Amino acid sequence: MSVTNMLLFTIACLAVRSALAFCECGYATSISVNGTLTSYVFTDLIESDFVHIQDVASDTDWSRQNYSVTALAARGPYGMQFSLDNIVSNPLPNASTWSGPGTKGADPGVQLQVSGGVPKDGYIVGAQMNSNRQDLRYGTFRALMKLPSVNGTCSSFFWYFNNSQEIDMELLSSEFQPNPNNTYLINLVDQSLASVQRGYAIPGTEYMVADLPFDPADGYHEYRIDFIPGLIIYYADEQVIGTLNGSIPSMPGHMILTHWSNGDPTWSGGPPATEAVLAIAGVRAYFNSSDPERQAQATKRCTDPTASDSICYVPDYYPNNSLFTEYFSNEPNKTNNQTIYGKKSAADHNDTPPILQIVIFIVLTMILFAMIL
Ligand SMILES: *[C@@H]1O[C@H](CO)[C@@H](O)[C@H](O)[C@H]1NC(C)=O
Ligand SMILES: *[C@@H]1O[C@H](CO)[C@@H](O)[C@H](O)[C@H]1NC(C)=O
Ligand SMILES: *[C@@H]1O[C@H](CO)[C@@H](O)[C@H](O)[C@H]1NC(C)=O
Ligand SMILES: *[C@@H]1O[C@H](CO)[C@@H](O)[C@H](O)[C@H]1NC(C)=O
Ligand SMILES: *[C@@H]1O[C@H](CO)[C@@H](O)[C@H](O)[C@H]1NC(C)=O
Ligand SMILES: *[C@@H]1O[C@H](CO)[C@@H](O)[C@H](O)[C@H]1NC(C)=O
Ligand SMILES: *[C@@H]1O[C@H](CO)[C@@H](O)[C@H](O)[C@H]1NC(C)=O
Ligand SMILES: *[C@@H]1O[C@H](CO)[C@@H](O)[C@H](O)[C@H]1NC(C)=O
Ligand SMILES: *[C@@H]1O[C@H](CO)[C@@H](O)[C@H](O)[C@H]1NC(C)=O
Ligand SMILES: *[C@@H]1O[C@H](CO)[C@@H](O)[C@H](O)[C@H]1NC(C)=O
Ligand SMILES: *[C@@H]1O[C@H](CO)[C@@H](O)[C@H](O)[C@H]1NC(C)=O
Repeated sequence: MSVTNMLLFTIACLAVRSALAFCECGYATSISVNGTLTSYVFTDLIESDFVHIQDVASDTDWSRQNYSVTALAARGPYGMQFSLDNIVSNPLPNASTWSGPGTKGADPGVQLQVSGGVPKDGYIVGAQMNSNRQDLRYGTFRALMKLPSVNGTCSSFFWYFNNSQEIDMELLSSEFQPNPNNTYLINLVDQSLASVQRGYAIPGTEYMVADLPFDPADGYHEYRIDFIPGLIIYYADEQVIGTLNGSIPSMPGHMILTHWSNGDPTWSGGPPATEAVLAIAGVRAYFNSSDPERQAQATKRCTDPTASDSICYVPDYYPNNSLFTEYFSNEPNKTNNQTIYGKKSAADHNDTPPILQIVIFIVLTMILFAMIL
């Protein structure tokens, strides 16, 4: 290699390095649409590793809900009270391990509890958390959860704008008995303005009861919603369990995790006889933002869409009942310009700053000249 070539090579290496931050052009997932596997890219993320977050009360990515709904409004024999007391952080004792009971006993993660017994004041106490980001416009939304084995509650993971722009996965513990072929039921919902006005959702396009190939109360499983233009796809442990396209929300939304009961024998059942616990190990969401500022920042970040690793594929959950989850935010340089509670600012891991690069360049040049002299 000639000296000129070596210099050019050095310059090229420095240039590539400065251009490429891992995942700078986004996070991708392959989705089967109309029989064709298509790659969808999202620019933003929320990663919440609840088995390692000490106290969700200080988690800036989520807000714990404190409100109540009367029995009349809840359309059940009981009202509902969503209480901060029923949201309990139960992290693993060791920041670098992925198994074992939590510091407060079994079922690590954030526990959303529904209190047991018949409430004296007529309000069944449950729990809910909402994502603070409300700019989620299309995305892949994933929650790793262990459902309660106590009969009489509804647990749900959903994307929400309002009652007619809402995508839900709802699990009723009253249904947690195996079908003859050992599958279990899950309700998939895609609310529309028509379904709200009608008072019910049309099976097939707005609503479906799907089969889970496992007992949701037996271990942690990943529940996933992919919301892309024209289609909503639901998964359990990375297997497609249903698709709906009756109503495609037009507005940006937020995520909700909730566990409740209003005693309605046709839906949640309950009140549960004893305390029911929904344990959430973590949430991973990769989405596009409706916020023009975040969109502009995404464009700015993406300096070279053709560079390898400028787009990162979202690792699938490996369905082995494990708590182990691959978060980009656990790697030092894959979440540049994203915000993740509990993680060091990605800015701390920025590429070599330009001045340092110039210094390196000069030093390398001097070494090269020293070598040929
Ligand atoms: C998300 O935004 C990126 C950047 O604008 C765009 O390339 C991509 O197609 C969008 N994804 C979806 C599903 O709309
Ligand atoms: C929850 O809301 C109630 C009623 O608005 C209020 O009295 C109570 O102080 C709130 N609790 C907390 C912990 O914020
Ligand atoms: C956490 O687990 C790692 C890996 O097993 C171990 O090396 C470390 O000592 C543990 N830390 C504590 C505080 O127990
Ligand atoms: C939800 O929001 C959409 C868009 O703003 C609006 O058209 C619709 O009426 C709202 N639905 C309900 C139930 O308020
Ligand atoms: C829950 O209770 C209801 C009402 O008693 C009953 O119909 C249902 O079979 C029970 N479900 C399970 C999983 O035991
Ligand atoms: C299992 O049984 C359920 C309920 O009877 C049925 O809907 C489903 O198609 C069956 N699944 C398989 C794989 O046979
Ligand atoms: C699937 O194909 C149908 C028929 O060509 C088309 O109308 C629809 O938009 C496609 N769906 C998606 C999500 O691209
Ligand atoms: C909605 O799904 C149905 C059934 O899979 C399909 O025939 C139709 O083309 C889809 N429509 C859109 C807009 O994707
Ligand atoms: C589950 O799979 C992941 C990914 O392959 C692996 O790292 C982990 O050790 C496995 N856990 C168990 C309990 O097998
Ligand atoms: C990113 O971090 C990995 C190790 O976690 C390292 O191998 C790689 O060189 C880093 N890349 C950049 C661009 O800093
Ligand atoms: C992202 O980068 C922009 C500059 O392009 C900066 O203003 C913004 O604060 C950064 N956001 C995060 C979360 O790092």
